[in-house]
Amino acid sequence: MYMSAVATKIEDKVKEAPLTVPLKIDKSESWKLFDTIAERYDLLNYICSAGILSLWRQKLVDYFPKGSDLKVLDCATGTGEVMFSIMDDHHFDIQEIHGLDLSKNMMKKGLEASEDKSYAKKVCFHHASATQIPFNDNHFDCVSMAFGIRNVDDYQNCLKELYRVVKPQGRVLIMEFSLPKNNVIKSIYLFYFRHILPFIAGVLSKNKSAYRYLNKTVEAFPYGDAFVNHMKDAGFSTVWKSLTFGIASLYIGTKNE
Ligand SMILES: C[S@@+](CC[C@H](N)C(=O)[O-])C[C@H]1O[C@@H](n2cnc3c(N)ncnc32)[C@H](O)[C@@H]1O
Repeated sequence: MYMSAVATKIEDKVKEAPLTVPLKIDKSESWKLFDTIAERYDLLNYICSAGILSLWRQKLVDYFPKGSDLKVLDCATGTGEVMFSIMDDHHFDIQEIHGLDLSKNMMKKGLEASEDKSYAKKVCFHHASATQIPFNDNHFDCVSMAFGIRNVDDYQNCLKELYRVVKPQGRVLIMEFSLPKNNVIKSIYLFYFRHILPFIAGVLSKNKSAYRYLNKTVEAFPYGDAFVNHMKDAGFSTVWKSLTFGIASLYIGTKNE
């Protein structure tokens, strides 16, 4: 069969698949979209990022603070992969690690995966929002949030919540998509991001709207110095690192108090 015929068949399949989530999505309900793709989320991440995502997670882990008996929170934890990356390297130093998310299906996958880990007893999942964190002030030594803050309805309020629950001098590690500075790389990337990725991921997940949502939210979200300014408004002093030509950024914030 010729490639164009294959492509037409795939296109038909995508058209047939019901769009469980409308394209114009209210961010306060973005978790519903993740609920629908939870089963294939990790596989799709791996395929669409060509494995780069695990290198980015490792980069986040590189900035995990030193210490003992540490209390850690991972916001918008999804299937818990960030928690597992942190625990794989630091579980001896960690007393407890909590993941929170609004998608029960994503966390169900995470909970299943955590059962095989030697440190399973220290890992806890909570059904809660990162804009209303169910923990006391100054509780955590480190709070992480990877590819989550872009999805919450009020990210400035979320930053204030992260600030509230982390201890004075504690650390916040936020990773989020951004756009490359170099115009040539940016054009190539945007073509992949707007056309190729939603197509491949849409076919594999049977939810094309989920991956159209991805590029729209990324392109609309502040990054680099603009995001650092929002972190400053919440009270953090922040440095940031550009990852893989600027496709993602890591923000390392310290609570000044
Ligand atoms: C792109 S996934 C990231 C998951 C994980 N951190 C990772 O790196 O694979 C975004 C997650 O944010 C969650 N989410 C959306 N709004 C949220 C909110 N207000 N509070 C907590 N989690 C939220 C979604 O349910 C989803 O699991």
